[in-house]
Amino acid sequence: MTVRAALVGLGFAAQELKLPGYLAARDLVEIVAVADPDPHARAVIAQQLGLPPEACHEGYEELLARADVDYIDVSTPHLTHLPILALAAERGVSVICDKPLAMSVAEVDEMIGLVERSGIRAGVHHNYAHFPSHAEMLRQIGAGAIGRVDTVTMSAHSVYAPGVMPGEDGWRGVARLAGGGILMDYGIHLLYLSLRLLGPGFIPRTVTARVDKRRIRADADVEDTVTVHIEGERGETAALTLTWGTGTSGHTVVDGETGTLQIRYPDGFSAQHNVAHELQIMRGRLGDPESIPVEWERLPLEWYYGGSIRSFAEYVRGGEPSGVATLDEARATISLALSAYESVALDRPVEVPLSPASPLYSLGVTGVHRMELASDNVIRRRGLYRPASDEGAHE
Ligand SMILES: NC(=O)c1ccc[n+]([C@@H]2O[C@H](COP(=O)([O-])OP(=O)(O)OC[C@H]3O[C@@H](n4cnc5c(N)ncnc54)[C@H](O)[C@@H]3O)[C@@H](O)[C@H]2O)c1
Repeated sequence: MTVRAALVGLGFAAQELKLPGYLAARDLVEIVAVADPDPHARAVIAQQLGLPPEACHEGYEELLARADVDYIDVSTPHLTHLPILALAAERGVSVICDKPLAMSVAEVDEMIGLVERSGIRAGVHHNYAHFPSHAEMLRQIGAGAIGRVDTVTMSAHSVYAPGVMPGEDGWRGVARLAGGGILMDYGIHLLYLSLRLLGPGFIPRTVTARVDKRRIRADADVEDTVTVHIEGERGETAALTLTWGTGTSGHTVVDGETGTLQIRYPDGFSAQHNVAHELQIMRGRLGDPESIPVEWERLPLEWYYGGSIRSFAEYVRGGEPSGVATLDEARATISLALSAYESVALDRPVEVPLSPASPLYSLGVTGVHRMELASDNVIRRRGLYRPASDEGAHE
């Protein structure tokens, strides 16, 4: 029996990346309806899926009134994730939502409560963990190939993000709609990957971050450049660097007690979403790199969301949740991202987890304006993270 899914939000992620995953999973899941206020987006998807006009809705409210949807897959701007999940929970429809699940830790807590009370199944597209390169890296670490992991370093440069560069527009450049810049966007992938690579024994203790805005459109109030350093209880570290609009190379290196794993991308390819070139292992400190065979990512992009889609559809069909990223994992990554913004506001390392007393816990990134910001703080200098007019600010 196939599972009946509906897509909510039919923009870049749905059209370019999710659709190939769903087309390849037709044995397991059928898309029976879609919703998006944009008629062009509806027409494009309807044509590709062969959907009749009555299956294409303008609003998710109308879509969630249907009786034939087992779960919705949400790919809308970050600010809309909570209200969409809330209505789905009320209607008893399961939900997989794209990352970042929410704008603040308080929003994730509300979502966790809604899911528990309604009994729906819920998950998050932390899809990079399913990429063959990352999945094999995690498998090698689980099998003890490099001993206990001490250090993860990842960089991602010139990451593609529709709407952020000069001449473009859209919600991604607006903090109160996106919840932050590249860190809340692509950085979420590097945060959950870091947590998984460092393993369940990793307990983060401090976060130190720097941000800047250099290349993106002038009216954007989010960062396009970020470095984050996370230190764990036993001295383990994750060091992440991300940029929109600069740089040509990216890397993922994981150091353990007895060796190193490294993913290489073809020359000029800049980030973890690109088709990987080679997974190498260096056994011992002076070992020669050996290639680990991997069933590499290829075009078409079935693999991009494929693993995440299949695991969630199986879960909705009554299977085990293994492979589905949980709301708890999303909570941990969003909490770390907000701690990073708190570190930028205070211009020093901060202890984690983020305290419920921090304005960022409930307001998200715009909560930085409820803190004492030094006159030369980058948030002031670059005019970052402007709150909605009714949120107010005092500095
Ligand atoms: N997991 C990944 O690898 C990955 C990759 C790209 C994007 N994303 C995520 O996907 C989501 C969407 O990003 P995008 O790049 O597709 O954005 P986008 O702006 O291209 O598309 C968003 C779509 O949502 C629609 N929309 C807005 N409000 C809506 C509502 N209330 N109901 C229904 N539709 C609504 C818009 O009309 C638009 O078509 C974000 O959460 C983003 O972070 C994830």
